[in-house]
Amino acid sequence: MDYEIAGLLISLLLCVAWAMVTKRKHRRLEELGRLPPGPRWWPVVGNIFQLGWAPHVSFAKLARKHGPIMTLWLGSMSTVVISSAEVAREMFKNHDVVLAGRKVYETMKGDFGNEGSIITSQYGPHWRMLRRLCITEFFVPSRLDAMRSVRGRCIDRMVQYIEDASAGGTTAVDVRRFFFLMSFNLIGNLMFSKDLLEPKSEGGAKFFYHVGKVMELAGKPNIADFVPILRWLDPQGLRRKTQFHVDKAYEIAGSFIKERMESLEHGGIHNEAERKDYLDVLLEFHGTGAEEPSRFSSRTINAIVFEMFAAGTDTTASTLEWAMAELLHNPRVLKKVQAELRSRVSAGKKLEENDVENLPYLKAVIKETLRLHPPLPFLVPHMAMDSCRMLGYHIPKETQVLVNVWAIGRDPKTWEKPTEFMPERFLEPNAVEYKGQHYEFIPFGSGRRMCPAMPLASRVLPLALGSVLYASDWALDDGLRPEDMDMTEGVGIALRKSVPLKAIPMPFRGSL
Ligand code: HEM
Repeated sequence: MDYEIAGLLISLLLCVAWAMVTKRKHRRLEELGRLPPGPRWWPVVGNIFQLGWAPHVSFAKLARKHGPIMTLWLGSMSTVVISSAEVAREMFKNHDVVLAGRKVYETMKGDFGNEGSIITSQYGPHWRMLRRLCITEFFVPSRLDAMRSVRGRCIDRMVQYIEDASAGGTTAVDVRRFFFLMSFNLIGNLMFSKDLLEPKSEGGAKFFYHVGKVMELAGKPNIADFVPILRWLDPQGLRRKTQFHVDKAYEIAGSFIKERMESLEHGGIHNEAERKDYLDVLLEFHGTGAEEPSRFSSRTINAIVFEMFAAGTDTTASTLEWAMAELLHNPRVLKKVQAELRSRVSAGKKLEENDVENLPYLKAVIKETLRLHPPLPFLVPHMAMDSCRMLGYHIPKETQVLVNVWAIGRDPKTWEKPTEFMPERFLEPNAVEYKGQHYEFIPFGSGRRMCPAMPLASRVLPLALGSVLYASDWALDDGLRPEDMDMTEGVGIALRKSVPLKAIPMPFRGSL
């Protein structure tokens, strides 16, 4: 009992001390220059209670009152939220470098460190080297062309699994699960030329489990991010648990790397047609040894491998689940996209990547999904590497910068009927693109930190969606009516449906 009272007193004292420190810090920053406006904050907690269950929605509401560039205090973390295309343009055109740092959260910080991490690297030579590798080796059109058959195979397999799971169109399937498995299998093949989810794959299922756990933990709000004094305590155990699963995943990926190195030492060719996968690229890397290493350590390779799974699976699966949900919610659009598919793809053939060029409505459905449901509604949090002045406001060094692309994609000043799912808006001449130049539509970001895998995602998303729509007719489970569907958003590492989409695929016999 005495210990409990002592503990309570110490916590209270710590909080009071912390309140005084944060108050002084806020005042000092306010004195340094005019910060962007924002709501009133409380000592210690700042504006945490205004985060709500869906921070992108809460912040969009606050921005209506405080403006498209707004300051919030998440505990002691000063945060600037950008909520309009005009301010995003200013950020990416005129302050891209200074705001290209990364806010690194506690769960991303374990003793696996930032070595090899593209996502958490601060802007600088190490990040530039990794980024160059992504742009010139992983996601370059020639490599993507060479790996076309890998994508086709993973998607065909998904279509087959869906058909098997639905027992010929009688049982509803959890749509997201299949998209997630496909994305995971695809990245496994791009990285290692391995079908990690095949029953005979040694370690594949365990790797899947540990990567999934890390993503689940990383998506949870962590009090230690907001109240640094609690960092050493790790009160929710999130950092410790993440570290455990990262170590396990690294152990398994490490065994794949070792196996490949041994095979190469013995003159082995690991796959047909001598096609290079990403692991080959990483093992063959020769740097200058000055600002970049001459060879990658296995730890760096592990981090890069891990990060491709973390960055590529949830984002892809969430986008595809939302696309299916919106189509079932809007039967008119579903009918139109299926009619396009079935009129342009010859009977008896399956959908190929080359066909997608002639399927403008399918591509518009993907864009409209990314507008309404960007999987990373705040991008990946940026950080000011130095203080700067933007639109007359002072942005202090180390401020977290969140670009609310969810709010920008629904801004009524830009979009007609912004909350309606209308792919037709992307068929108009001069319609905006998501390549980072049209700031009203930036689901992949813009500027230096923009998603390097956009060219891969642009190929996978329409092919995967088109393939499941071409192969089957879809109906909602349990006679649910489209207008009664629950379209609430849930927050994890990516913006997903709160209630998983369950739907029945009825094989379309005219297709194959
Ligand atoms: C629907 C699909 C995807 C979307 C919408 C998406 C979106 C994004 C966004 C918004 C960012 C952060 C940009 C910023 O901070 O300004 C990002 C970063 C990144 N994405 Fe993607 N992404 C997708 C798929 C993928 C895939 C499939 C991979 C890899 C296989 C990938 C790898 C990465 C990496 C490595 C970064 C970090 C870049 C850096 O920090 O420099 N993404 N992505």
